[in-house]
Amino acid sequence: MLSKVLAMSCPRGGCTAPGQRILPRRMQATVSHTAAIREASEREEVVREAPSPRGLPLVGTTLSLWLRGSAAQLHRYVDLRHAQLGPVYREAIGPVDAYFVADPLEMRRVFQLEGKHPRNLLPDAWILYNQLYGCKRGLLFMDGEEWLHFRRIMNSIMLKDADTGMEQPCRQVAADLVAEWSQHAHQQVPRLEQALYQWSTEVLVANLVGGDKFAEHSSAIRRLPGLRGLSEQVRQVFCESSKLSLLPARVARAIRLPAWARFERAVDHAVHGASSLVLDLLPFSRGGDGMLERMLAAGVELSDTVRIVADLILAAGDTSAVTMQWVLYLLAKNPDAQERAAQDPQILRGVVKEAMRLYPVAPFLTRILPDESRLAGYTIPGGSLVLLSLYTSGRSAANFPDPSRFWPERWSRENSSGGLLGVNHASASIPFGLGARSCIGRKLADIQLTQLISQLLAGFRIELVEPEKEVDMVLRLVSVPNHPLKLKLVPRK
Ligand code: HEM
Repeated sequence: MLSKVLAMSCPRGGCTAPGQRILPRRMQATVSHTAAIREASEREEVVREAPSPRGLPLVGTTLSLWLRGSAAQLHRYVDLRHAQLGPVYREAIGPVDAYFVADPLEMRRVFQLEGKHPRNLLPDAWILYNQLYGCKRGLLFMDGEEWLHFRRIMNSIMLKDADTGMEQPCRQVAADLVAEWSQHAHQQVPRLEQALYQWSTEVLVANLVGGDKFAEHSSAIRRLPGLRGLSEQVRQVFCESSKLSLLPARVARAIRLPAWARFERAVDHAVHGASSLVLDLLPFSRGGDGMLERMLAAGVELSDTVRIVADLILAAGDTSAVTMQWVLYLLAKNPDAQERAAQDPQILRGVVKEAMRLYPVAPFLTRILPDESRLAGYTIPGGSLVLLSLYTSGRSAANFPDPSRFWPERWSRENSSGGLLGVNHASASIPFGLGARSCIGRKLADIQLTQLISQLLAGFRIELVEPEKEVDMVLRLVSVPNHPLKLKLVPRK
């Protein structure tokens, strides 16, 4: 079926660029191929256009994507395109015209070309919402000097020397969740997805007020009206945004699509809920060492603190919660690896990396390149949108031997001076992005995930309630399981 879909949109089963060979198998889309084109083209200094699939008149190739299962399967669709056209190609899908890049060296190069104020593509619906309601938002939505100014401050609070302060609040929130789940041992963990959203929101809140202050006031903070229900509102924003992803937001609004009205309601609740929560947290954070106090001490105005932190709450909710679901799924599917991870913190780290390699929350990183550039020898005009295909690069045999195997040890060193056991190109799996605009929450995410997993594994074996049911990855703005994950915890003693 799939080959028919591709053949329909691309009669030669190949590409349109002159002189470009057809690449029928994934393994042919390798680094050496890219390097050869790059060298030849750089020597000749010629303009080479990246290959692109042939589409039908008017609808382009969007129809192929719809036939493939629509936006939910975009990562697979693009994976097939890479296998067909090579590690760098161009395609217009719906309203988005982009260069797709899956080669790890070329991906690194994109970050070198991104300029002083890197720009990425934001969901159309979110931009329209901000414009309509004059909503000033946090880091993710900022550009230029404003972004750089606040990003530098947040770098020093969240990335430099942040580990020690983050450990304690992450440990406490994880301990509370494990205690709650232990009451349901041997049974299906109730409302797993919601519980993980709640956990990741609480982790951030605990870090905002600081470890000691959270320990002192945790029950009062958990009773705050703004906190109760917020994680559900954040979850709704992502559910509703994903339903609007293939249609221009202005059209959805103009034709009064119910999905647009639901999206507006969800964002209203989440943005206002998060902003009022930040104000409610201020009295608890005073005199502590949490992020809120540190932002105010660094001279960030209260109104800017509120909008930046409100967006951190939105950004933290889905990413960590969804990654944790994949970690739990992979551990439950692989009981041997689970036992090894329970004994060895090094392997536990590998578990998180493997989960993000196989199921990157954001399977496409985006950049708008400021100037004309070259990638794999192809000319990329200034202002072009580039999408880095993490799903493809993370599952390529050229980058990871036996790529579909969940093998946490692949991230261990062969010996003290050697490379990694099962990783040929570490930059083929960059789930937090790279460079100046990479994820600001990556340290926090790393600590919160390892804390929760290590506490769970210390007390329980994680098992699937329906082991025969395969779980697949679908794209709903972020990569989520295609049906709710059902787990149970079995006490070790
Ligand atoms: C496993 C968890 C997470 C993953 C996989 C993840 C992934 C990402 C990715 C891929 C980006 C874009 C990077 C780029 O374009 O180069 C990003 C940006 C961002 N993330 Fe995360 N993230 C996670 C957790 C968090 C958390 C916990 C927070 C907040 C505490 C957060 C806040 C942000 C913000 C604010 C940005 C925008 C940064 C900017 O534009 O300067 N993320 N994240």
